[in-house]
Amino acid sequence: MQTFAEELQALRAEGLYRSMRTIHGAQGGRVELDGKDVLLLCSNNYLGLADHPVLKQAATDAIGFGVGSGASRLVCGNMDLHERLEARIAAFKGTERALVFNSGYAANTGIISALVGRGDAIFSDRLNHASIVDGALLSRANFHRYPHRDTAALERLLQEKGGNGRRLIVTDGVFSMDGDIAPLDKLVQLARRYHALLMVDDAHGSGVLGDTGRGSAELFGVLDGIDVQMGTLGKGFGSFGAYAAASAEICDYLVNKARSFIFSTSLPPAVLAASIAAIDVVDSPEGEQLRRRLASNVALFKERLQGAGFDTMGSETQIVPIFVGPAEATMEFSRELLERGVFVQGIRPPTVPAGSCRLRCTIMATHEPAELEGAAEAIIEVGIKLGVIS
Ligand SMILES: Cc1ncc(COP(=O)(O)O)c(C=O)c1O
Repeated sequence: MQTFAEELQALRAEGLYRSMRTIHGAQGGRVELDGKDVLLLCSNNYLGLADHPVLKQAATDAIGFGVGSGASRLVCGNMDLHERLEARIAAFKGTERALVFNSGYAANTGIISALVGRGDAIFSDRLNHASIVDGALLSRANFHRYPHRDTAALERLLQEKGGNGRRLIVTDGVFSMDGDIAPLDKLVQLARRYHALLMVDDAHGSGVLGDTGRGSAELFGVLDGIDVQMGTLGKGFGSFGAYAAASAEICDYLVNKARSFIFSTSLPPAVLAASIAAIDVVDSPEGEQLRRRLASNVALFKERLQGAGFDTMGSETQIVPIFVGPAEATMEFSRELLERGVFVQGIRPPTVPAGSCRLRCTIMATHEPAELEGAAEAIIEVGIKLGVIS
């Protein structure tokens, strides 16, 4: 048996060792990283709401209700702020009801393992987020993975593997490491045809995509065709937590069956108040303006990178991967960029398949166009130096 130290050493040798960097001060488009001012190009705080004054004020005011919620929702941790946030989410998404979870990870593991169990079947896009995979494993349902965005392959699986139990099709709305979007219109049709439930994890689309920020389902005009719209509050909304927006029946079922909901202390007042304020901002003319700025920043950045010959891996959103390939070269690319004042993380296995390591650049509405021009120049310089482009 290997010791922990030996396993860590093996990770180092393969270029797969992970460690954390420290940010001092607020989360913004620029941050102080280990004492150095850098452009932040790897945050999911897409609209820049994490340090928005309105969210901060809402959190400050809610501190009047204390810092903790004291218990899980079903014991005595259900505060009126939880219900106000859920009502706000349901109104925003146009669903009968919503249920708040403590994080996206807790939501996916809790929702999936509640909705299906032994004898049921899950149909999951091969590039779905790890928390979906973990939820599927916890559920003990038969787990069928279909090739990325391949609805013909999914249909074949639905014909062959259904059985008599419940069927759940689950997909990321925006794929977190690729920045492309699931074909939700076709998935809605398949779910109806094969009597399956459809769950969409819109962690990276919520607040950002669609004319009014309602996410990837709004882009396809299928907001009412999805049984469970899962979303997170810690990315585009700049706060923390997650939710399932669904029918009253499904939410009631989750209250009774989702173990991550039942067996965990509920979110604290300041976070809940900040999330309500975040949805208000997203759902306002200011939110529209932020989405327009984000879209124009994304277009500028992609045009520069693609013009220089980088492979941005089919990105359709503010998540812009740059394909590198080997792990060591990817980490070297990231280190070189940091020396030039640009903070981008390299993404390696197990997050992405071996040989498809990439830099995952994420654009924010609050980046200045000149900052993105500068970052693109640095990326091109390092890309040429390392032979990623010629
Ligand atoms: C697609 C997707 N789902 C779920 C999660 C988990 O959300 P949270 O960070 O709120 O736990 C993430 C976060 O990285 C994600 O990218």
